[in-house]
Amino acid sequence: MRLRRSLVRLCLLAVGLSALAAPAAAQSVNRAAIDELNAQLLYVALPLALFVELTLVYAIYRFRDNDDPSPTVDDPALEITWTAATGAILVFVGISAFVVMANPYITPAAAQASTPGDAFADDHEVDVLAYQWGWEFSYPEANVTTEERLVIPANRNVTFRLRSADVIHAIYIPDLGVKQDIFPGRTLTARTHATEPGEYRLYCAELCGSGHSRMNATVVVKNQTAYDAWVENQTATAENRTATTESRIATAR
Ligand code: CUA
Repeated sequence: MRLRRSLVRLCLLAVGLSALAAPAAAQSVNRAAIDELNAQLLYVALPLALFVELTLVYAIYRFRDNDDPSPTVDDPALEITWTAATGAILVFVGISAFVVMANPYITPAAAQASTPGDAFADDHEVDVLAYQWGWEFSYPEANVTTEERLVIPANRNVTFRLRSADVIHAIYIPDLGVKQDIFPGRTLTARTHATEPGEYRLYCAELCGSGHSRMNATVVVKNQTAYDAWVENQTATAENRTATTESRIATAR
């Protein structure tokens, strides 16, 4: 009786934990792929963990007063079964992980290498410069540069060209499922396709000196109309600044 009650409690706990682990709606294509993989693996791992634990509890209960235990010897059928089952599970985990790794948003370099020409030519591009200790974002399409604030349009493919001015840094945007090391002297690529307008945190995820923990930025995802308005505003401000400087120079003369 007590056993059954504790089993019920164990099952309830497992259900509660899996509900807690259920992710909120993903904010990008990358993040959705990663969340889906996590859920798939959870659905495999949860029944397995329950099976092992319940077998253990059963064995402890069933054989609790056994003064003369006899060991299991030589059971080829059992051994073949557990080896084959483990193999099948590992192959499943390997394949589902590989599919996500090969996703052109998760590992753009691999996707790029397997396609002739520039596979991401239609992407919206942002040049990202990491330095000790901050971020600079340039938007070649708009001729605009921002610091500590990355603005991208929603529902568009975005390619980040990543460079470092000094040491190794790493761009990390958890909500968008973006994470990539940035090495000095090389240009690396990261990609995303954000689906939800909003503000997200960007971190440096590679220890890069005493200012590492302050090396944050905000990612602003805007829908296309708001994004276009932002670009226009930025360009106007930049032109204004140039005009002011020019008129100052003229006045000084
Ligand atoms: Cu840059 Cu840590």
